[in-house]
Amino acid sequence: MTAPTASPFIIVAIDGGAASGKSTSSKVLAERFHLLHVDTGSFYRGVTAEFLRLGVSTKDHTAVTAAAHALRFGTKLHDRSAAMEIGGRVIPDTEIRSRIVNENVSHFAAIPEVRTALLAYQRGLADFAREQNFRGVVMEGRDIGSVIFPGADFRFFLHADPLERARRREKEGHHDSITERDRIDSTRKTAPLSCPAGALSIDTTHLTPAQVVETLAAPIAAGFAAR
Ligand code: DC
Repeated sequence: MTAPTASPFIIVAIDGGAASGKSTSSKVLAERFHLLHVDTGSFYRGVTAEFLRLGVSTKDHTAVTAAAHALRFGTKLHDRSAAMEIGGRVIPDTEIRSRIVNENVSHFAAIPEVRTALLAYQRGLADFAREQNFRGVVMEGRDIGSVIFPGADFRFFLHADPLERARRREKEGHHDSITERDRIDSTRKTAPLSCPAGALSIDTTHLTPAQVVETLAAPIAAGFAAR
């Protein structure tokens, strides 16, 4: 009799700019393949909300560094998604998606100490997913396939025409200067938004959400079937 093989655990990295189709597709993939869904943008938003609450300015490097070191993270499971706790509290969605956070998040996210503070936490979510008996993780962000999980089983980079992305955001009822955020996110020195070498780059401008999902799901399904 052969020993039972451990069921495969996969990591899916999805990077891309705001409103490129990451969130919708990663949530559907999480559901379909029983993966933990991790929206790392919500983590940068949570840290930004916390820093704004503490009155920390992006211009005060000493204060940002001290505040970044003092962050204590935890995780709560909300359906299939990892919700980050800071100091034992999950910051509500209304707060992390507010106009003030939209305006500040890219500036805090460009500071290396802030990124370092989140690095180990994000990688540790793979262990959290295993403990919770998920079959893997689907993590969306800007640097997942390049920095957080460069060895991920699947790495996707989604992009779309800026006008189409602005239209999508408006439809969601969000006021968000995505072009400006993308400019800051793409030009920062540390972990800029870019398509990592070897990732599958997909233009979602003319695809429906369902078509984006199927484009990503096909290689994942094949990957599971092959194990
Ligand atoms: O995905 P989002 O639009 O909610 O992300 C908010 C901001 O967080 C985005 O403008 C840049 C930053 N971010 C990042 O720098 N790295 C990530 N992995 C995810 C988000």
